Amino acid sequence: MRRHLHTVVSSPRGDRSWSRRALQLFVDGYRTQFPDAEVTSRDTTNLPHLSLAALSAGRTPLAEHTADQAAAFALQAEIVNEVEHCSHLLFATPMWNWSTPSSLKAWVDHFVNIRTFYGAPSVLAGKPVSVIISSGGLYSEGPQSVNDTLRPWFENFFARLGATEFAFLNCDPTGPMDWGGLDPDADDAAWTKVRRQIEQRLASVDR
Ligand SMILES: Cc1cc2nc3c(=O)[nH]c(=O)nc-3n(C[C@H](O)[C@H](O)[C@H](O)COP(=O)(O)O)c2cc1C
Repeated sequence: MRRHLHTVVSSPRGDRSWSRRALQLFVDGYRTQFPDAEVTSRDTTNLPHLSLAALSAGRTPLAEHTADQAAAFALQAEIVNEVEHCSHLLFATPMWNWSTPSSLKAWVDHFVNIRTFYGAPSVLAGKPVSVIISSGGLYSEGPQSVNDTLRPWFENFFARLGATEFAFLNCDPTGPMDWGGLDPDADDAAWTKVRRQIEQRLASVDR
């Protein structure tokens, strides 16, 4: 199978986003290692929430879909196809209010449907998954980690959908770099930390 990295990005902060910058670093490293790899991307920031028509279509067997339901299912099908076709799934997301931005939750709500959880609950089995998380405070370790509901939420999602080979790549705390004047290249900066984790991940995954 040709290597195919699919990225799901969720920060609306453009060039100022640490998770997007880290994602770019990962993608650049991946392309250097595997020049033939395909790389695709889904930006969740403009995804709609599930409508009534979409949620009903997402729980009705495909063979029973009316024309309206087939149309309402189109975005869910697109999102599932993107994941099914990839060999490595990479998320890049901020922590917002101890959890995920609602647009990433909307992505999950589109992804979990009659073709996946209710049809093929192991859709992520055998696919390595990497998750870049940036947060203003330090949540990947230390005293605040008990308030981190984002990583446990991902872990539950992976367990329910069959992903067993996953890694969190932590870019935290970003606050000292954004507001505290900390040089991102300093040894103890979140940017330095995530760069090292990305290097380590790339050295071991998809070999
Ligand atoms: C709406 C919102 C909620 C946030 N909630 C948290 C939070 O719960 N914990 C935290 O440490 N930082 C929080 N932050 C700060 C972001 O996690 C931080 O700016 C991070 O770098 C954002 O990722 P990005 O740089 O990829 O956009 C929040 C920021 C915003 C805009």
